Amino acid sequence: MKRLRTQVGIVGAGPAGLTLAHLLDRVGIESVVLEDRSRDYVEHRIRAGVLEHGTVELLRESGVGERMDSEGILHHGISVQFEGERHRIALTDLAGGRSIVIYGQTEVVKDLIGARLERGLPLLFEVDGVSVRGFDGDEPAIAFRHEGEEQELRCDVIAGCDGFHGVCRPAIAPVLRTFEREYPFAWLGILAEAPPSSDELVYAHHERGFALLSLRSPHLSRLYLQCRPDENLDGWPEDRIWDELRTRTALDGWSLNTGPILEQGVTGMRSFVAEPMQHGRLFLAGDAAHIVPPTGAKGLNLAIADVAVLAQVLDRWYRTGDEGGLASYSETCLRRVWRAEHFSYWMTTMLHRISDDPFDLKLQLSQLRWVTTSQAAATSLAENYVGQPFELAS
Ligand code: FAD
Ligand code: PHB
Repeated sequence: MKRLRTQVGIVGAGPAGLTLAHLLDRVGIESVVLEDRSRDYVEHRIRAGVLEHGTVELLRESGVGERMDSEGILHHGISVQFEGERHRIALTDLAGGRSIVIYGQTEVVKDLIGARLERGLPLLFEVDGVSVRGFDGDEPAIAFRHEGEEQELRCDVIAGCDGFHGVCRPAIAPVLRTFEREYPFAWLGILAEAPPSSDELVYAHHERGFALLSLRSPHLSRLYLQCRPDENLDGWPEDRIWDELRTRTALDGWSLNTGPILEQGVTGMRSFVAEPMQHGRLFLAGDAAHIVPPTGAKGLNLAIADVAVLAQVLDRWYRTGDEGGLASYSETCLRRVWRAEHFSYWMTTMLHRISDDPFDLKLQLSQLRWVTTSQAAATSLAENYVGQPFELAS
């Protein structure tokens, strides 16, 4: 067996693992990143597209924001549509000057992988058989196979950045308390070669179900439709997708741009939190610890906020030996996590068709009217949507 040694062993090369490795490198802390998929797979897995103000600042200030700054699209508002009316929420005006940037998760991941490999730092793709141990004491280790060879990575700390289906959270399951909600609907998402039909995102409530107009570039639209969790894509030829999007987003004097569909998929909706986000020398970050339904565009941003805290407390620990920061990691992150959980739940239940009960519908419409006419309500949406400034551990 080949034996390796590093300071921080990172499981998973999604946004959380890659950003953590990058932030640690900036303060001179060594890490090894282990990923079970191929580089091509992780660079092309289409997911989130909205970066919060704090995420943008962190990527820029840490030196990986160059392409984001040239290709990302700055947005100062979103629209909420219901009963055939489209209302703009002026995010930047309402949220103290903060804004969002449209830049795909795929691009963030490509930038981080590029930066790491350019520096010649360890990032292993297509590892398998990953397991973690020793984190109860001070000799944590990660066992894995790479290119047919059994290996063991000894480290001071393990960062479980391996997403919802990874191995790190199950490894500490007995000490965790979990909170969960599943929703009886999902999103059918497409990426289409069509110029965006709206300059800003449109979240549409419709009696046939929710629809979202988003984008990736001046030539690429990203669009979503509420569907059943077990929806079979065979029942959705291109014409049906476009007809449904047209119906749910219809507005007098406006039309939907269409074009060839390049990608399509169904995403389930779930709220989930595991507490605490740390046990001994194993720290969970991102989707490994929590999931939000995508309606609030928070998943990727939460993952980055977690590792901003983790990098900071590890830096302090290595410099001073002070364990106080490590001990407060979970509590610091969970404050932000639960705010995002509530916001995502609130957006989801306000905008989707949640039942056939007319009482539910009346409450939703009242809520939508309030959020689009009351400055106080719109400000609350805006503050949550652009995100709070990143919090540092005490
Ligand atoms: P991940 O991106 O899941 O990264 C975890 C990494 O760990 C992956 O690369 C995985 O391959 C790897 N891994 C897993 N197990 C192991 C193992 N045993 N060993 C080694 N590596 C392992 N959020 C939004 O805001 N908007 C969206 O539209 C949106 N769409 C989504 C669609 C889907 C299908 C999914 C699953 C999520 C979506 N999200 C969306 C959420 C957002 O993409 C996630 O919150 C974000 O990817 C979290 O980053 P992460 O690094 O924590 O986890
Ligand atoms: C996206 O562009 O993929 C996107 C935008 C906003 C959301 C979710 C997904 O709330």
